[in-house]
Amino acid sequence: AKDPVRVLVTGAAGQIGYALVPMIARGVMLGADQPVILHMLDIPPAAEALNGVVATTDVVEACTGVNIAVMVGGFPRKEGMERKDVMSKNVSIYKSQASALEKHAAANCKVLVVANPANTNALILKEFAPSIPEKNISCLTRLDHNRALGQISERLNVQVSDVKNVIIWGNHSSTQYPDVNHATVNTPAGEKAVRELVSDDAWLNGEFITTVQQRGAAIIKARKLSSALSAASAACDHIRDWVLGTPEGTWVSMGVYSDGSYNVPAGLIYSFPVTCQNGEWKIVQGLPIDEFSRKKLDLTAEELSEEKALAYSCLS
Ligand code: NAI
Repeated sequence: AKDPVRVLVTGAAGQIGYALVPMIARGVMLGADQPVILHMLDIPPAAEALNGVVATTDVVEACTGVNIAVMVGGFPRKEGMERKDVMSKNVSIYKSQASALEKHAAANCKVLVVANPANTNALILKEFAPSIPEKNISCLTRLDHNRALGQISERLNVQVSDVKNVIIWGNHSSTQYPDVNHATVNTPAGEKAVRELVSDDAWLNGEFITTVQQRGAAIIKARKLSSALSAASAACDHIRDWVLGTPEGTWVSMGVYSDGSYNVPAGLIYSFPVTCQNGEWKIVQGLPIDEFSRKKLDLTAEELSEEKALAYSCLS
């Protein structure tokens, strides 16, 4: 039998946590043949809800020995709060949890940040956990990726699993750029470009993009709560592909530490197309970027640079 893998879920008593924990236990994240030991962390005000599962409010206990950390815990933006106040709360949470992971997690622990602002929380975590390799720190844009696949599959009336290689570039926010220029669909006549099958450029360059960008807000409006099941499911997809690999010829979107690829400023956590093998991701290189896309890649990078500056101003 395989050795168990220790998986930390922070924010475990929250909505996403409640959906995510049983998925991990069922093997949706790492496979049904992989035993897991779940570490569930939440804060004292949630302790009662947490008693409904099995868990802790002690950060050190939660982080000790973990191989995978899914960071769902955070401070939500409440009505009337300034962006800077929310940032400041999350910066201090991610700074202290980074230190706990740095000291107590297993060597080579893989980290996925889900809580918003996801890219910048991941960046802060990276800064304050210098011994965790930067390649091990990521944030979730797979939900947006899955939504983009969903929009195309609905439009073409095909299975979601027949669509692949959309890209989410940049921030997990409304400036993200969902890009279909390299996406393809499996058809009875072979693999075809999405641009060839959806001839309506106005839709692809307009409504498709805004629908994916705004989907999170639309769900909050409809449910009065953010998406939980689809976010939990996307977190499982993200870790599963990272650990077990992406299928040949398929890439996925992950928020990772920019090395300057595609002229994205180095030192941001930015969502790129990646392939995974042997537990490591690699940015897909050499995709042609047209002028329309270039502007959108830059716009979302600018927002991330601003968030980074704001986060740093909260530290000082
Ligand atoms: P929620 O409010 O139901 O749950 C968050 C949980 O985190 C709460 O139980 C809270 O007590 C806990 N928490 C707060 N501070 C903590 C700390 N310092 N340590 C441990 N736990 C802590 O929120 P929900 O709906 O589960 O969403 C969680 C986060 O995920 C939010 O930031 C949300 O914006 C984000 N999100 C991200 C998505 C993505 O695609 N990246 C998609 C959907 C949501």
